Parts: sequence; C-alpha cells; structure tokens
Amino acid sequence: ATLLVLHGPNLNRLGSREPGTYGNATLADINQRLHEQATQAGHHLLSLQSNAEYELIERIHEARDEGIDFLIFNPAAFTHTSIALRDALLAAAIPFIEIHLSNVHAREPFRQHSYFSDIAEGVISGLGAQGYELALAAALHKLA
Ligand code: DQA
Repeated sequence: ATLLVLHGPNLNRLGSREPGTYGNATLADINQRLHEQATQAGHHLLSLQSNAEYELIERIHEARDEGIDFLIFNPAAFTHTSIALRDALLAAAIPFIEIHLSNVHAREPFRQHSYFSDIAEGVISGLGAQGYELALAAALHKLA
C-alpha cells in the first residue's frame, strides 16, 4: 500500500520549537523512522510538510487521484481552524489517523476542539514522536 504523512504548519521547526512541548526529534528524524518502518513492512510512504493550508489541500486532492490508501495527518494549528482541510478529506474519502505530538486535551481550551477527530479512523495525542510509529502500525494493521 501507499501511505502519505502530512505535517502541518510550524512542524518543520520540530527539534528546536518548544522542545518541552514537542520533544527533541526533528521532522527529518520522524520521517526517516516512518519510512524505514513502512519499507520494512513492504509498503511505500510519502510525506509532505507545509505551512500553507492551500498546499495541504492540493496534496489531499492529488492523493485521491494517485490512489493513496491511507493518510497520517498532523494538521498542527489547522486542527483548530480549518473547515477547508476537513472538506478536502471528506472529498478525498481516504481513511486517516489524526496525530498530535502534545496532548492537546491538557493544553489551552482552544486546542481542545478539532475539525478532524470525528471523521478520523482514530486519534493519537500526547505520545510525542512515538505516536507517529504507533499511527503507522495501526494504519498497516487496518490495511492488512
Ligand atoms: C500539534 C498541536 C496543535 O495544537 C499545535 O497548533 C501544533 C502541533 C501537536 O502536534 O501537538 O502546531 O498538532
């Protein structure tokens, strides 16, 4: 199968961005581990990080046309704001897991609403970089 990991705004700064909240792993570290994990299991993993809502929407549209089987998505701050990304996912109808490094439920009230959780296959929040590996394992299990 082919899976796509989408990383939203400011996640290109992981490693140096608020490490107490988001950890020390860089985005490259996370992508590399996921790539190895997918390849070892005989699957393909693609990834994109963007700070622009437009680019993420376009990538989701393309994912549909390419026949991507599953998405792992950290919408970052767009989690709490983006009806447009929600609509893109509904239009694409590709199953996805929503993921957050931090436990959004233990933070500011404005982080406790997500435009994605009710349409996701599942949600992982608060397990740091390891959450991505767990999300990928769950996705591969669902695809098997
Ligand atoms: C985040 C949580 C969001 O509230 C925040 O805006 C982010 C990252 C996380 O991974 O914990 O940028 O999605």
